[in-house]
Amino acid sequence: MKSFDISPLTCSQALAALDTAVELVRRNLPLFTDRCQNHSSVNDVYPPCDNVQWTCGFWPGEIWLAYERTGDEAFKAAALKLVDSFLYRIEHKIEVDHHDMGFLYSLSCVSAWKLTGSEKARRAALLAADQLCGRFQEKGGFFQAWGPLGAADNYRYIIDCLLNVPLLYWASETSGDGHYAALAHRHVATCLANSIRPDGSTYHTFFMDPVTGGPVRGATCQGYKDDSCWARGQAWGVYGTALSYTYTRRPEYLDAFRRVLAYYLERLPENMIPYWDMTFTTGDAEPWDSSSASIVACGLLEAAKYVPAEESERYKTLVGQMLASVWSLCAVKEGPVGVGLVRHGTYSKKSPYNTCTQEGVDECVSWGDYFYMEALTRLTRDWTPYW
Ligand code: GLY
Repeated sequence: MKSFDISPLTCSQALAALDTAVELVRRNLPLFTDRCQNHSSVNDVYPPCDNVQWTCGFWPGEIWLAYERTGDEAFKAAALKLVDSFLYRIEHKIEVDHHDMGFLYSLSCVSAWKLTGSEKARRAALLAADQLCGRFQEKGGFFQAWGPLGAADNYRYIIDCLLNVPLLYWASETSGDGHYAALAHRHVATCLANSIRPDGSTYHTFFMDPVTGGPVRGATCQGYKDDSCWARGQAWGVYGTALSYTYTRRPEYLDAFRRVLAYYLERLPENMIPYWDMTFTTGDAEPWDSSSASIVACGLLEAAKYVPAEESERYKTLVGQMLASVWSLCAVKEGPVGVGLVRHGTYSKKSPYNTCTQEGVDECVSWGDYFYMEALTRLTRDWTPYW
């Protein structure tokens, strides 16, 4: 496995980095308690938005992590206020006709349920799990990511959904109803069968045949082109397979984790912060996606619980190195109210070959901030995931 020449962050450095992040979250609380935080910053500062985007769960996730670190009731009060907003959103079905129920509700509400026992939060998260189940396509066995259900031009899933299915594993555990997890297993099986290429790289999206249910083709939306490897898709693959392994202990999920991780590490630049697509490497004049580094760090620490000791130690060293790089090259140490925590993320970069709209290029992105805090938390203590 490729090695890197970076000194890993020590535990006390990680705690100091986490405390810097917590203080930035504290300063941003007044701005983002009655409103949500937009998906990406503008010149490193987030505009507020309504609770309508797929990304609105990351900010409450950060508040819960800040609460866990400090025990400060001000964080708890703000995060519980946001639970009300998320319950309202799912009860009134506001912008929930897509698959991102896990990103939204694991971090805003499963977290609240686990940390405070809030019944409101549990109800909201279970309604979100039902909403996700409503997007399951029997023909092909997958959760349709976007668009009207069954539409031929949108009959596809995307690799990101590996982070939505943990909501379903949780829903089965908390309700005793196995149908949530059963659909999750079918989706993950479809995803692993089609989305990972022989070299361990991944397709961002994958079309299925609405008549036969068979695989049709991989395509990108946010990556550079169909046959390249979008960095964040690869990162979702790393963390998503680790989480599915945690809930199921199916060896094929750990095997998939190792394959996508190996490709990711092989393509990483020397500073361990990937470019937005892994087709680019050291020296290319392209923006980075620092959020992928933090997502992969979380996946490594999740998998480190289950692999043999030597492999586990290797993963922890890699995480220390990745976070040392994110801290020194990307972390915000101070800034105006509304500033993000981690610079150099990329949401969607337009290329001549992809289908996305350009947004949030070389900016802070809300999930980049969240996963940075989660990775630092994981590095410094045993932590019960919100996923
Ligand atoms: N799930 C969409 C993204 O990662 O940008």
